[in-house]
Amino acid sequence: APLVVKPSNIKELAESPDLRFIPSNYVHNSCYSNSSATNDIDDSDSIPIVDFSLLTSHDSHQRSTAIHHLAKACQDWGFFMVVNHGIPENLMKSVIDCTYEFFNLPEEEKHKFTGKHVLDPIRYGTSFNTCKENVFFWRDFLKVFVHPHFHSPTKPQPYRDIMLEYSEKLREVARKLLGGISESLGLEESYLDKDLDLESGLQIFVGNYYPPCPQPELTMGLPPHSDHGLLTLLIHNQVGGLQVQHQGKWINVNSLPNSLLVNTGDHLEIFSNGKYKSIVHRAVVNNKVTRISVVVAHGPSLDTIVRPASPLMEKENSPSAYYIPMKYKDYLEMQQSNQLNAKSCLERV
Ligand code: SIN
Ligand code: FE2
Repeated sequence: APLVVKPSNIKELAESPDLRFIPSNYVHNSCYSNSSATNDIDDSDSIPIVDFSLLTSHDSHQRSTAIHHLAKACQDWGFFMVVNHGIPENLMKSVIDCTYEFFNLPEEEKHKFTGKHVLDPIRYGTSFNTCKENVFFWRDFLKVFVHPHFHSPTKPQPYRDIMLEYSEKLREVARKLLGGISESLGLEESYLDKDLDLESGLQIFVGNYYPPCPQPELTMGLPPHSDHGLLTLLIHNQVGGLQVQHQGKWINVNSLPNSLLVNTGDHLEIFSNGKYKSIVHRAVVNNKVTRISVVVAHGPSLDTIVRPASPLMEKENSPSAYYIPMKYKDYLEMQQSNQLNAKSCLERV
């Protein structure tokens, strides 16, 4: 019978010599129906593309075109690729390289950051939510709070500076996108920023490490889930694995080189009073190469009580009882203490 292991990290397991079968507590039965063997997977030709340079343009026609694209992307998909974002290519590459090197540090070094609580500022771990899981996921992670207070591991040596520079640049991009999204909802550009206190907004830098897996069709890197924040900006080492749910199908995301992949989170759904739903996504693994992704989540400040924007409630005269006002901090804790399944957390609110 296949062995059962209690994971400390997946990297070590994946590197064990002659690993031909995965331990049974990594087998997700539900994967079969969703595997790439079925024709559920569509390719990503139709994923919307947002040209960031139009959004920042002084030409009002260009800007309104960009806002129109944003509105459509948020409403029809909750997922889009951003091009011409101005983040230097070599910075993006360094972020990926340092993240790879972090996971290659000796276990003692990484182990310092083994935390349990969702509000720990630096947390290294494996799977998705090991306190709650019986079946694990093929992924190690590093989560770092980089705003409003900056934290970072000190190794590998350049990581701190690179993490800081990348986080700051990405926060600028995220705030501009959210300004456009605010406008696309018929609000002032600065409405969302002020209402949700983005100046002190929580920004979390997440590095994901998915080593090759001998039976990738039996397991998963990450289960279907939505992100808790407003907008998540993602890059990876050009190895596929991210899938997004669109009109009931799983879509493989084949990203344009150097683009930022953006997805909408639960708090944008709440703020927009359900107009922009948070998107459900997951990560699959492969049997050939390690996949690295770096995901930066942008949310309200921890003490903000998020509720649908009041002009949206009045205008549409729609009940918002579905979204109970809650501090972002409390939402994070509630989410962590639940078995996280797709959007179970949001539906519970
Ligand atoms: C995530 O959803 O946080 C990561 C997805 C990915 O690795 O592509
Ligand atoms: Fe995610």
